[in-house]
Amino acid sequence: MHILVIGRQGQVARSLIERAETRGGIVLTALGRPELDLSRPDRLDDLLRRHGPDVVINPAAYTAVDRAETDSAAAFAVNRDGARAVAEAAGRLGVPVIHLSTDYVFDGAGEGAYREDDPVGPRSVYGRSKLAGEQAVAEANAKHLIIRTAWVYSPFGANFARTMLRLGRERPSLGVVDDQWGSPTYAPDLADALLALAPRLAGPAWCDDFAGIYHLAGAPAMTWCAFAREIFAVSARHGGPAVPVQAIGTADYPTAAVRPANSRLDCSRIEHRFGLRLPEVRDALERCVPRILAANPANTTIGATR
Ligand SMILES: NC(=O)c1ccc[n+]([C@@H]2O[C@H](COP(=O)([O-])OP(=O)(O)OC[C@H]3O[C@@H](n4cnc5c(N)ncnc54)[C@H](OP(=O)(O)O)[C@@H]3O)[C@@H](O)[C@H]2O)c1
Repeated sequence: MHILVIGRQGQVARSLIERAETRGGIVLTALGRPELDLSRPDRLDDLLRRHGPDVVINPAAYTAVDRAETDSAAAFAVNRDGARAVAEAAGRLGVPVIHLSTDYVFDGAGEGAYREDDPVGPRSVYGRSKLAGEQAVAEANAKHLIIRTAWVYSPFGANFARTMLRLGRERPSLGVVDDQWGSPTYAPDLADALLALAPRLAGPAWCDDFAGIYHLAGAPAMTWCAFAREIFAVSARHGGPAVPVQAIGTADYPTAAVRPANSRLDCSRIEHRFGLRLPEVRDALERCVPRILAANPANTTIGATR
């Protein structure tokens, strides 16, 4: 089973690479910049033909949510046009594409958890570019699964867990937004689920009614403030920083891009169809936080994050 991943350095790409090494029967190739730049996807056909994958997973995206507000062309170039190019190239080989998308396609005004067929209404350039990417992927390759995930964190790259642990070393207390709800998702758990999914889509296993959108994120949903407190509770147990976290409002923490106040994802569709459910946030933090702390002993700085 050969899986081709688009991107190499991202949280999900790195998690896929790492988790694939623990599973038998999977050969995984990750293609990232400069070899493959989705804003100039002219080499895609050639690369895909050369590697001959059974499934393509595309977690690559322009993910700088605030920067996208003033860099719309670049966000759409990668998140819509690049996504379409990947799906088309896979389609020309008759290969399914698993495309990663986001909870930020929703406006956040709804109550409760969003289902896949709930109306979308992105409030940011990033969200609009990702929604356009979903539509482009669905048009470009009949064999597509669009996986919307949310609030991704991991030992790698720029993410909320690393930011909190860094700030927890630098400041005596923190104020964190307590009126935005979402579903924190541990990238290695997401990667495990994607790697379990891929063989079920490849070759003759593909079934046309698999195609469509699925939500896949951690549970339970919580606010950023509650998530920060969970992170520090785990950190304290492992000898890391633990500071009091005060609840603040979105209005107290202005950002260039508007985030949905509620982007909880109902993940029952993928559970019913494929039996996939991600582990609970507390369980995931028990695996994530010690890795971040171990990689950043007390006298060093936890990497700058967005
Ligand atoms: N992070 C979140 O909180 C979050 C939440 C919801 C949904 N998602 C979605 O989940 C997916 C994975 O997110 P992530 O957290 O892993 O993102 P990330 O850590 O920001 O990584 C982004 C990835 O995109 C690749 N990339 C960016 N521009 C590219 C370009 N022009 N050409 C080729 N590759 C390019 C990067 O490739 P290089 O390896 O070349 O650097 C990197 O691998 C994305 O589709 C994102 O929209 C993320």
